[in-house]
Amino acid sequence: MAILEVLQFPDPRLRRVSEPVREVTDEIRRLAEDMLETMYDEPGIGLAAPQVGHAIRLVVVDTDWTEEDADRKPTVLVNPEIRGGEGRLVWTEGCLSVPDFTADVERAERVELHATGLDGEPIVESVEGLRAVCFQHELDHLDGVLFVDRLSLLKRNLYVQKRKKLHRNEELAWPTGGERPPAPPVQRP
Ligand code: NI
Repeated sequence: MAILEVLQFPDPRLRRVSEPVREVTDEIRRLAEDMLETMYDEPGIGLAAPQVGHAIRLVVVDTDWTEEDADRKPTVLVNPEIRGGEGRLVWTEGCLSVPDFTADVERAERVELHATGLDGEPIVESVEGLRAVCFQHELDHLDGVLFVDRLSLLKRNLYVQKRKKLHRNEELAWPTGGERPPAPPVQRP
């Protein structure tokens, strides 16, 4: 297994619309394993293939996992789709591809998820709360959408300005490019 590089805003590869997975090959299985390893390492509770540079409809999640409780219950979703959606809820979201920023996003409170597992078996889950938010957030990545796109223009521009400033500071603090700033705190989802 390997830790993969997570692409960060404003990388244009995060904006591509991903292709369906036609066949679960060994390569796809390896990618899913590496994505899980990367997600737990960051740490995060969800990761979509476009975030690691693969424009395919593959997502990994573990919404029960916390750093304190190392018990892992990973779910790998091949070609996931959300059907239906009821209620509204506001959740403070973050994203491994949008570092150092969280914001309140409004989503459906309950959704029904349809996907296939790596074994080809269908997965159907009716979920609510955090898991519903996580699925909606991760599936957005498959269509090139980031949670910042769901904010008001004002809030979104605040982040863009902050990011630009951060980049300048990074250049000042890490002139050789050999060091990376410390990892961000836990980001959900
Ligand atoms: Ni994300």
